[in-house]
Amino acid sequence: MLVSLLLFLPAVLAENGRQAWLRYAPLTGSKTGPPALPQSIIALNATQSSPVFTAGQELQNGISGIFNKHLTVSSSHSSASHAWSLVQRHSSRTHSERLLELEVDGFWLNVKGSAVQIVGQSDRGALYGAFEYLSMLARGNFSDVQLVSNPAAPVRWVNQWDNMDGSITRGFGGASIFFDNGVIVSDLTRAAEYARLLSSIRINAVVVNDVNANFTTIQPGNLQGIGRIADVFRPYGVQVALALDFASPMEFGNLTTYDPLDPGVIQFWDDITENIYDIIPDFAGYLVKADSEGTPGPLMYNRTLAQGANVFAKAIEPFGGIVMYRAFVYNLLDESVWTADRAKAAVDFFQPLDGQFLDNVIIQIKYGPIDFQVREPAHPLFANLLNTNVALELQVAQEYLGQQCHLVYLPPLWDTVLNFDLRVNNETSLVKDIITGKRFNRTLGGSAAVVNVGANDTWLGSHLAMSNLYAYGRLAWDWSLQPDDILKDWIQLTFSQDKTVVDTITQMSMASWPAYENYSGNLGEQTLNDILYTHFGPNPQTLDNTPWGQWTRADHTTIGMDRTVSNGTGYSGQYPPEVFEVYESLEKTPDDLVLWFHHVNYTHLLHSGKTVIQHFYDAHYEGAKTAWSFVPMWESLKGRPGIDEERFEDVLFRQNFQAGHSIVWRDAIVNFYHNISGIRDDAGRVGNHPWRIEAESMELDGYELYTVSPFETASNFTAIVTSTNSTTGTASTRISFPSGKYDIGINYFDMYGGNSTYTVSLNNKTVGQWEGNIVDIGKLGHTPSIYLDGHSATRMTFKGVQVKKGDVLKVVGNPSGVEPAPLDYVVLLPQGVID
Ligand SMILES: *[C@@H]1O[C@H](CO)[C@@H](O)[C@H](O)[C@H]1NC(C)=O
Ligand SMILES: *[C@@H]1O[C@H](CO)[C@@H](O)[C@H](O)[C@H]1NC(C)=O
Ligand SMILES: *[C@@H]1O[C@H](CO)[C@@H](O)[C@H](O)[C@H]1NC(C)=O
Ligand SMILES: *[C@@H]1O[C@H](CO)[C@@H](O)[C@H](O)[C@H]1NC(C)=O
Ligand SMILES: *[C@@H]1O[C@H](CO)[C@@H](O)[C@H](O)[C@H]1NC(C)=O
Ligand SMILES: *[C@@H]1O[C@H](CO)[C@@H](O)[C@H](O)[C@H]1NC(C)=O
Ligand SMILES: *[C@@H]1O[C@H](CO)[C@@H](O)[C@H](O)[C@H]1NC(C)=O
Ligand SMILES: *[C@@H]1O[C@H](CO)[C@@H](O)[C@H](O)[C@H]1NC(C)=O
Ligand SMILES: *[C@@H]1O[C@H](CO)[C@@H](O)[C@H](O)[C@H]1NC(C)=O
Ligand SMILES: *[C@@H]1O[C@H](CO)[C@@H](O)[C@H](O)[C@H]1NC(C)=O
Ligand SMILES: *[C@@H]1O[C@H](CO)[C@@H](O)[C@H](O)[C@H]1NC(C)=O
Ligand SMILES: *[C@@H]1O[C@H](CO)[C@@H](O)[C@H](O)[C@H]1NC(C)=O
Repeated sequence: MLVSLLLFLPAVLAENGRQAWLRYAPLTGSKTGPPALPQSIIALNATQSSPVFTAGQELQNGISGIFNKHLTVSSSHSSASHAWSLVQRHSSRTHSERLLELEVDGFWLNVKGSAVQIVGQSDRGALYGAFEYLSMLARGNFSDVQLVSNPAAPVRWVNQWDNMDGSITRGFGGASIFFDNGVIVSDLTRAAEYARLLSSIRINAVVVNDVNANFTTIQPGNLQGIGRIADVFRPYGVQVALALDFASPMEFGNLTTYDPLDPGVIQFWDDITENIYDIIPDFAGYLVKADSEGTPGPLMYNRTLAQGANVFAKAIEPFGGIVMYRAFVYNLLDESVWTADRAKAAVDFFQPLDGQFLDNVIIQIKYGPIDFQVREPAHPLFANLLNTNVALELQVAQEYLGQQCHLVYLPPLWDTVLNFDLRVNNETSLVKDIITGKRFNRTLGGSAAVVNVGANDTWLGSHLAMSNLYAYGRLAWDWSLQPDDILKDWIQLTFSQDKTVVDTITQMSMASWPAYENYSGNLGEQTLNDILYTHFGPNPQTLDNTPWGQWTRADHTTIGMDRTVSNGTGYSGQYPPEVFEVYESLEKTPDDLVLWFHHVNYTHLLHSGKTVIQHFYDAHYEGAKTAWSFVPMWESLKGRPGIDEERFEDVLFRQNFQAGHSIVWRDAIVNFYHNISGIRDDAGRVGNHPWRIEAESMELDGYELYTVSPFETASNFTAIVTSTNSTTGTASTRISFPSGKYDIGINYFDMYGGNSTYTVSLNNKTVGQWEGNIVDIGKLGHTPSIYLDGHSATRMTFKGVQVKKGDVLKVVGNPSGVEPAPLDYVVLLPQGVID
């Protein structure tokens, strides 16, 4: 009895996210039942390091998980009638003309009922085909197919920014799975699991160390360790690549120079390269960030960037390796110079060198010319290198886009660049066709995405953020895929095929980037994060008055970068004529990039008919409202197929955080521009919060007033902190709102370096308690702040609390460490009010 009861329990087991989209969970609510499955698996390679062997294992595990059916795997044809065969290359055994269509890494998937044939052009192509078949089964797609699939481009890379000390630059999902304490970790289980995930989305190489490279990575002891990483990647067809420190010849080569034309330096790089290939025969290549943000490079010796890149290219060419050379080169600038413009730098540096880079060099270009902002125009360098290989650099790591603590599904943003037509020579020149080499007839090309996978079970620190990694791989293979189609596949694999689950997460995700753009920085004004500190919360004034060149040029009457040729920096002139004509003209520039290209009055009328300032106000309110809607949407999925308790609670926590932080963003930005422009909000919302009780206006005991900086990140510019960091503070007030049911929100600052505790009560009856520890215990992985500011500002909410007019509401804060139990305000939200 007991056994059969257990068997029929619903299959909603707690999941920690480690299997990501490769869960192979039993199908939920499948109408058609299991398909005719083959009787056994033949994987035509018995070598364990072969991706073909891996494919056999993966099929066995997948079928077992999805259908609870165990199939045997053999490595020769002799065994069975109904079989999958996995063949490395097409041969006399595999008769189909379709196989002639296969290109490098491509595969042929031929499903006819229980007879399934998977043929790869290469070993890893066969594995890709196996993953494709398993993905179909896991989504309940049992159709017959005869599918030839080839990659859009040969370079489908990931750049991890892992440091030798085990930290990850812009890492929000835990420590490095590769490095710790200066060496390569001994247990590479997670590295192998990562390769499995990447292989399933057809990523073929990983740069395992930060672009700001440390020379110790390529020292002899560590190279052996890199070799171990390559060993665990190999069965998945994933290759290792390394970022190089340009100054290594001096730093550990004992040379007095790193001049790329110095014979000793050339010898040094030749030797290093030979060492690497001795240990890793299938090493993919180098990534170089030179002369960028303080990194050493060829310009130090008056050598060109091409001369720099070509030294590595020559060294690695005999081994078949490639060099990815980053275009992210710019100088510090003076904002008082009206024509100074960081966005112009890449074209200025690289365009004159077009044609000078060797054939195994690829210039790796970010999607826009600044730095992974919430919206940027397509990078003009894509239209200026007609005789040079190029690749697109995306960022799955949400450095400026909520740091995986805000849901932001990125493909709709990427889409604005990929499908942008640069009109080179007045001909169709989509960015997606330039990076694949198609437009300018280049043989090498592709993409790299900066990814911050870490040791957290969820990989990125957030279950929902994984859709971005999944989508990146799918797109790198086929740039014509639609963001929402990819998303639906990912949801079905990650959660379930339940229609409500698929529709709801699709709706949330597709609305997430527009929402984030609305409440962070819109009209092409950039993200408005604090660029001098965490890159997380709002701090618009950090963009100006710095040499970094991410300026908004906001003053009391005007805002925006004039990037026109006629009266500005001339950046618009870096685009081909037809694109230039659009961006040069204020009338023709689309609203969503108007402040990127033009310096206008706050009262300038947009195409939408609104003024710039009113658009700011409306968009920030709209964006925060959308972020709030994610909470009930997610809550509506509780208990649905595939929504286990563990992932449900984790995502719910994050959506509540995003909702609260979107209010912090909204208020900070609208307050800032209201303050600087003095122009009121037509809808009367800005500075008007009828349901808030400012902490500073409450009766305080053991608390004192604190002026928050930047001012706009606290309601009424003021917070309260305990008078000492060892004694409790109390803030109380008598409620003057009408009696009724409210959601009680408490805005406080969750700083790094303390776990203050808070208790909220009504008439001395506890409503709730919490600890301000979300960054201290790593519950959220964003870059923490040790100040009261837009990064630490957050909200705790207690829902549906019955409140009577005249009740005494009290918050008791108990400080901890350097965190003086800081409070900003209390808000009593009637049903349906967002504030
Ligand atoms: C089997 O895989 C190994 C390792 O990848 C490879 O060296 C070998 O050529 C493969 N054998 C065949 C018959 O494809
Ligand atoms: C390079 O790595 C070594 C070993 O982990 C470390 O001691 C050193 O500080 C690092 N250098 C830089 C510039 O990060
Ligand atoms: C540099 O010099 C040190 C000390 O003489 C020596 O241990 C090291 O092997 C040399 N490094 C290289 C790359 O030759
Ligand atoms: C590079 O050129 C500049 C000016 O042409 C000169 O002042 C400088 O000394 C040169 N630097 C080197 C390292 O040759
Ligand atoms: C493309 O380049 C190849 C050499 O790489 C050349 O043979 C071919 O003619 C070129 N095609 C076009 C359309 O220019
Ligand atoms: C993963 O991160 C979550 C929050 O982001 C944290 O609560 C959890 O402790 C982390 N787990 C691991 C295994 O790192
Ligand atoms: C032209 O540029 C100057 C700065 O050189 C600026 O002050 C002025 O506002 C600009 N004029 C227009 C119409 O944008
Ligand atoms: C390309 O387009 C520009 C802008 O529309 C136009 O001025 C130019 O004459 C065109 N060039 C050719 C060769 O058609
Ligand atoms: C801003 O408005 C003023 C007054 O209407 C006008 O003189 C000025 O040219 C405008 N500036 C810009 C940059 O449009
Ligand atoms: C705003 O803060 C000031 C102190 O900075 C305080 O005097 C004033 O009462 C506050 N206003 C409200 C509405 O709480
Ligand atoms: C906050 O709590 C964490 C987890 O218990 C602990 O590691 C940390 O030391 C605490 N911080 C302070 C300042 O007490
Ligand atoms: C109290 O705060 C001060 C100033 O921020 C700090 O120096 C001190 O270490 C804190 N005390 C404790 C117990 O953390």
